[in-house]
Amino acid sequence: MSHYAADADIRGRADLDVVLRRFYTAAFADHRIGPFFTEIAGTDLEVHLPRITDFWERALFRGADYRRNAFAPHAALHSARAMTAADFGRWVQLWNATVDGLHRGPNAERAKAQGERIALALHKRLAGDGAPTAGEGRVGFVPLAALELRSVA
Ligand code: HEM
Repeated sequence: MSHYAADADIRGRADLDVVLRRFYTAAFADHRIGPFFTEIAGTDLEVHLPRITDFWERALFRGADYRRNAFAPHAALHSARAMTAADFGRWVQLWNATVDGLHRGPNAERAKAQGERIALALHKRLAGDGAPTAGEGRVGFVPLAALELRSVA
């Protein structure tokens, strides 16, 4: 008896609301990437959530009118504190775990694939030559070395 339909796919904005609230709660609390939100950007989650929900609703369902510049805040963050492959690896890890914990299906797979693709694109654009390359057919590859597994203490 589950309190949530963990076996269902992501169907629309109401599901994204739940996914994103859970993801950003985990991201804010994360020792590696949390400080980008809490200390550097001073992000107000209640302001960020509707924007990021628009972003994802548009990315997955073409349903919202997101026209903001998603790159600019990351460029500002990166100049305040370098965002590394390990940081992006952690983002991807939290994103995949959050999606997998709540949903299963084609849209969930697309959400994970797009998250990793955008993480890689952001990292490449910010870090230039320091980013992993998309060579050897490994497009979308975030190196395993960038993933720091969370301890389950
Ligand atoms: C280590 C990785 C990342 C960190 C630390 C990070 C952090 C942040 C922060 C602090 C903001 C500014 C929020 C504010 O307005 O206060 C932001 C904005 C945003 N992030 Fe990220 N981010 C990361 C990766 C990603 C990835 C992979 C995506 C792809 C889905 C993404 C999507 C966005 C979008 C769309 C915005 C802009 C929201 C808006 O103002 O319209 N971020 N991010």
